[in-house]
Amino acid sequence: MTSKRVYIETFGCQMNELDSELVSGQLRALGYRFTPDPASAEVVLYNTCSVRELAEQKVWSRLGEMTLRKKKDPSLVVGVLGCLAERDGEALIRRMPVVDVLVGPAELDKLPSLLDNAVRTNKSLAANPAIDANTPGENRVVSARQIALQGSSSRRSGTLAAAEDSLEMLDLSRSVSPIDSGASNSRSAYVRITRGCNKFCTYCVVPFTRGAEIHRPPEHILDECKRLADAGVIEITLLGQTVNHYRFEHGAAVTVNGMVQPQKGRSFTGGHRRDPFAGDSTTTFADLLAEIHEKIPAIKRLRFVTSYPRDFGDDVLEVMRDHPRICRYLHAPAQSGSDRILKLMNRGYTVSEYLEFVDRARSFLHEPEKGRPLGLSGDFIVGFPTETQDDFFATMRLLERARYKNSFIFKYSPRPGTVAIDKLTDDVAESEKRRRNSELLALQNRVGEEVARESVGQVLEVFVEGPSQREEKRRRRAEMPRNLVSLTVGGRGNEDSSLCDSSNGITPGGPGEDEHKRDEAAAKVAAQYGGRTDTDLIVLFDLPAQSGDPSGHFLNVRIDSVRGLSLFGTVV
Ligand code: 5AD
Ligand code: SF4
Repeated sequence: MTSKRVYIETFGCQMNELDSELVSGQLRALGYRFTPDPASAEVVLYNTCSVRELAEQKVWSRLGEMTLRKKKDPSLVVGVLGCLAERDGEALIRRMPVVDVLVGPAELDKLPSLLDNAVRTNKSLAANPAIDANTPGENRVVSARQIALQGSSSRRSGTLAAAEDSLEMLDLSRSVSPIDSGASNSRSAYVRITRGCNKFCTYCVVPFTRGAEIHRPPEHILDECKRLADAGVIEITLLGQTVNHYRFEHGAAVTVNGMVQPQKGRSFTGGHRRDPFAGDSTTTFADLLAEIHEKIPAIKRLRFVTSYPRDFGDDVLEVMRDHPRICRYLHAPAQSGSDRILKLMNRGYTVSEYLEFVDRARSFLHEPEKGRPLGLSGDFIVGFPTETQDDFFATMRLLERARYKNSFIFKYSPRPGTVAIDKLTDDVAESEKRRRNSELLALQNRVGEEVARESVGQVLEVFVEGPSQREEKRRRRAEMPRNLVSLTVGGRGNEDSSLCDSSNGITPGGPGEDEHKRDEAAAKVAAQYGGRTDTDLIVLFDLPAQSGDPSGHFLNVRIDSVRGLSLFGTVV
């Protein structure tokens, strides 16, 4: 048993957030304690993302800070987990000798034993520095070098069973504790259904860092959802890189690339209908959704991300339509509106096929007159190699036509190990990428606001997540000394989906005398909270100051107005 204090910071996607939560649960069970303050931690872990270069740069700068710290405190243990660890491998430790532990996303179940070794090794190295021969000379910092990476070999060799085991080890280890407060984060949870990806989009590192697509057995998923519901969770988001590809063949032979071996003469090619060959021994994605909905009524909202816009059957849309607690929300990235670029990206669909999917989804699920619209969100990459102004216009046309409520827009970032970096020159100038990014974002903001306006006058059920950003700022200001004046930069980043109060721009963050008085007056009257509708729209509303914290509960809110992408309403 150890009682070391751990700080963990997570970069990137929801899959990483879940991994961090599972890893933290494992470590907590072993006696580690967690701190939100890296300066007081004895173990610092970074769960990293390498999907874009920007995310990696943040990690490098954190590791630079830790190098300085470790020179003073050689017993500090630094771990790099996740996709950057897997992508860079041991080269990462050569570049940053401060790193003691390196664990890829498919090997996270090994973290506790590696960490234990690192803690012991650093302790003895710190006590006797002469024995550290790893990094001689001036730059020497102690490194315990504990490494667990799957390596791309698992795609080729017959280690799928092992990969499946470690996947299940981590997810099954989830410690679910009954809720002790009404906080929304204990009432909302992610559950992984699929790990890895087999799509190999040419720009993407995920198939290399997370490995082959593997589906969890439905009974394990159901059991995890049930345990979460018993502990008070009411909102579950199922996670997979291509979540709609979920398919579990009970007792079937599984190939090393994670695909179910088709029976002779029969193969599932996707399409609109349920796979006619999926008999009793197959659990499809539609089956899984229906089963969770039927067997666990305590789950009030069931959603899933991310959908691959191909192979999305009508069976899934029918289940979404017919089961009221399944959210009418789809995150279905298009990436580009140009057929030529989509082909270079190896996305496997054309613009018209993508739009056919969007129209089909709307024909099943968009029922605004019943208060049940479909919420659609997307991802786009601008400045992909060879993207011309005309290709970009085509993307703008697609974005406008598909009418997303929001989109995540990224500048193309060449990633080591991908096909695109090897075969295509990154020939769109950075300034042009930036221009296209902000132009597309401006268009998305206009479309998003129009979509949001369609809800004005309606009463929507809102899952309250907590005090709004404005409210939190006000509370923080209230705790600050009156004479302290600072500036905070507000505004909505295109990669930020957190609750925002639409007061973008620079706002005086420090409490001047006037502001203090205004804050105090406002606090006596009302507090502003924020939450989401089942279509994932952000709703902000005021509650009388004395009415208690509604976080983690549902409230009906009549929508009065729209500012930016946020809806403002009144509790009814
Ligand atoms: N460059 C820019 N954006 C990327 N994405 C994935 N790889 C890259 C890359 N190399 C984006 C895609 C994906 C999202 C998670 O990140 O839009 O959907
Ligand atoms: Fe990456 Fe494409 Fe897989 Fe998404 S579907 S994770 S973009 S390879």
